[in-house]
Amino acid sequence: MSRLVNKHIIVAVSGGIAAYKSAELVRLLKAAGAQVEVVMTHGASEFITPLTLQALSGNAVHQLLLNAKAEAGMGHIQLARWADAVLIAPASANVIAKLAQGLADDLLTTLCLATQAPILLAPAMNQAMWSNAATQCNKKQLQQRGYTVLGPANGAQACGDIGPGRMIEPTQLLEYLTQQFTGHALQGRKVVITAGPTREAIDSVRYISNHSSGKMGYALATAAYESGAKVVLISGPTSLLAPPDVHRVMVENTNQMLTASQQACVDADLFIASAAVADYRPVHVSLQKIKKSATASRLVLELEENPDILATIASQFSHLTCIGFAAETEHVIPNAQAKLACKQVAMMIANDVSDNDIGFNSDYNRVSLVTKTGVEHLETQPKRLLARLLIDRLAQL
Ligand code: C5P
Repeated sequence: MSRLVNKHIIVAVSGGIAAYKSAELVRLLKAAGAQVEVVMTHGASEFITPLTLQALSGNAVHQLLLNAKAEAGMGHIQLARWADAVLIAPASANVIAKLAQGLADDLLTTLCLATQAPILLAPAMNQAMWSNAATQCNKKQLQQRGYTVLGPANGAQACGDIGPGRMIEPTQLLEYLTQQFTGHALQGRKVVITAGPTREAIDSVRYISNHSSGKMGYALATAAYESGAKVVLISGPTSLLAPPDVHRVMVENTNQMLTASQQACVDADLFIASAAVADYRPVHVSLQKIKKSATASRLVLELEENPDILATIASQFSHLTCIGFAAETEHVIPNAQAKLACKQVAMMIANDVSDNDIGFNSDYNRVSLVTKTGVEHLETQPKRLLARLLIDRLAQL
């Protein structure tokens, strides 16, 4: 399956004759399973119509920065957060210069300043413009800031010149973009991840559970796979789709999650416990639905403690690097530090779930990395991007 399946890709088109190739690029991205939003500069729309790119991407094209209607839909900040990658193709000399200066006078450049996603650009211009010292200096600056410059290719140009400045072909751009989601940090490693809530049955129709959506664990599974790992995702009940090429084991309750984790961890290298596990389960599970009593106004449930999956795995598999999450509503860091010590793990990833904008069910999270040596606070960001950052950090462990 293509690594681009369900990836959020922004194709940003600037003004140049190569803009006609962006239509094929969008078509290829869609065929690879990516979700595509197109941003066009005014110049780009002189070369190719927005309607063409709308038809191919399946979404209205974004053209204006200061437009009430556009901002009410997917405005520049939402676009910036939505993106897994931004591919500027073609990137004109003007756009490259503006980005090098950090200008934000249209939608494309503003988006590039606002996004935390990787930005790739495919320059296309006359060979003399490309070779000009100003363009070369701008290109170098962007590379130093982490932009990936793809091409340009050498050859015959629309203006009749021959030399470097042709936009590289859409099939090749697709390959580069795919590589963006193909890392090697965890190559040859096996990663086991727990995700989502667990459910503890009360009777045949009711259960105890929590609000965990599983989004963080699923994002970690995708990121670990994209870093080259073999991934087993042990998931409690959730409506999320299994990430492509990840082996998912669905479980219902905590004991099942523990058993599945023990089986998967035998030959694993890294265990990430991101599941929000129910700490207690009913002592007696009624086989029939418990009926409302005609006489008693209270029902008392007796609960017993569930096993701590993370602590059990950490103590049973000494070769494993174990990481936990600490979802807290108060004293976030001290609580995470206490868990780090008592569960004997390499890192606790602490987050404050009392803030509705992050944590459970949200697409965003803000976490702190708690280890024996200190605490590192990370910025609020989409769980997809945070997952990639966390996997890179964990690979270093
Ligand atoms: O102790 P607490 O539940 O707050 O710790 C949270 C961390 O421990 C999470 O990583 C969670 O997945 C894990 N955990 C577990 N088994 C439990 C409870 C929590 O693996 N029974």
